[in-house]
Amino acid sequence: MSNPIRIGMIGLGTVGSGVAKLLKANAQQYALRTGTTLELVGVLVRDTEKAMMTGLVDQAILTNDPDAFFAQEMDVVLEVAGGVEVAGNFVRRAIEKKCHVVTANKALLAAQGPELYTLAKQNQVSIAFEASCGGGIPIITALSFGLMSNRIDALYGILNGTCNYILTEMVQKGKTYADALAEAKELGYAEADETLDVSGADAAQKLVVLSSLAFDVKVTEDQIALKGIDTLDLSDVNFGSEMGYEIKLLAMAQQTDAGLSLRTMPCFINKETQLAQVDSSFNALSVYGSATGHTFYYGRGAGELPTASAVVSDLLNIVSGWYPKAFEQMNIWPVTHPDVQLADPAELIGRFYLRVDVQDVPGVMAKLTSALGNAGISINAVMQHETEDEQTAPVVILTHEAKQGDVQTALAEIAALPDTVGTPVILPVVDFPAG
Ligand code: NAP
Ligand code: HSE
Repeated sequence: MSNPIRIGMIGLGTVGSGVAKLLKANAQQYALRTGTTLELVGVLVRDTEKAMMTGLVDQAILTNDPDAFFAQEMDVVLEVAGGVEVAGNFVRRAIEKKCHVVTANKALLAAQGPELYTLAKQNQVSIAFEASCGGGIPIITALSFGLMSNRIDALYGILNGTCNYILTEMVQKGKTYADALAEAKELGYAEADETLDVSGADAAQKLVVLSSLAFDVKVTEDQIALKGIDTLDLSDVNFGSEMGYEIKLLAMAQQTDAGLSLRTMPCFINKETQLAQVDSSFNALSVYGSATGHTFYYGRGAGELPTASAVVSDLLNIVSGWYPKAFEQMNIWPVTHPDVQLADPAELIGRFYLRVDVQDVPGVMAKLTSALGNAGISINAVMQHETEDEQTAPVVILTHEAKQGDVQTALAEIAALPDTVGTPVILPVVDFPAG
């Protein structure tokens, strides 16, 4: 057996605690599998008292001093702290010290991925980041290696455990948004700043990471059309449900003739589809490959041990030697890849759910349908319930396939009608390709 591998870890929160537990619980198995022992030699946190309370690591290896942490001899640094600027500086210090890096930090990779991969290649070390997307589901490995022989046509993912948990608890158990969010935080699913989850930003950052691997391009977060679940109105969730649709926060990348369409937003999907069955903190990714057709990846997308599973698996892949070789020799990571060519969102074709609150007066429905007709949009279904409020009534319309730009034009006309109250709601109704 060779010398022990010296591991430094930055962060001992939800994910770091899971890593410390796995390293302790499975030490023998890891030694057997890699032919070497793994030794946690240093842990960097801000609050050492709090870290001591976990009882997971010896005081001797705990520090809140970055200089002391980086002064130690280490072979691999695990970055499980989060954030962008400080974490990015830590990762650069680790790379320049010739340490391999494992990170769970999609915010960092979305902001600085190409720069960090380049620096790592220059320093002949690797960066592994399975935990950054999909928690315990090995979707980075599947996309990077398992599906390498394919041209990827589309990705559809439920990539944020917090949002999926909130939607499940609200829809299935009638909980309030605030209560469901508080529980997701308590369970360790949410980011330190939970607005990253509910705004859709976290799922968009994951889409940056996944789409750059799948389509061999450089993508930035601002290129992703974004809407979060914090914009959702429960009445729309219920109207959609009546029509046979489940609401999900989807991260989507679709290759079109005019370029790549990248979106993260709440969408209606048919209740019978596989993605509609993905509940709670579970995540899933549907990948459409040119050779495989549809493949589907499912599992726990957030939380202590599922995420630690991905971090420690990355660590073992580095220790075994194959991953650093692949990182050095292959052109999978966005270093020299071209910038993404984006499709024009106005040209995107799909079905749409519209809700317009209108004055309950004669002739309103005709005005709505005429605005849609003027834009060349055909209506698939219309729903209006009897209402106790005599003043306004919500009208729900499901369109047939239409260009998004045309639907926006019709909605602008509808919003300007004197009978329209408030701002009309538009949500995509997503139909998945035939597998
Ligand atoms: P967390 O529970 O908030 O823990 C963060 C840890 O990092 C704490 O120990 C904190 O120390 C330490 N830390 C933060 N900033 C630091 C700094 N500037 N210097 C030193 N230590 C610092 O976060 P988490 O949920 O474990 O998430 C960590 C990372 O994993 C994030 O990038 C997150 O996006 C990612 N991730 C999380 C999950 C999940 O389910 N939670 C899943 C996948 C990926 P103090 O407590 O002393 O401040
Ligand atoms: N906050 C993230 C989520 C953690 O809820 O999915 C996993 O990346």
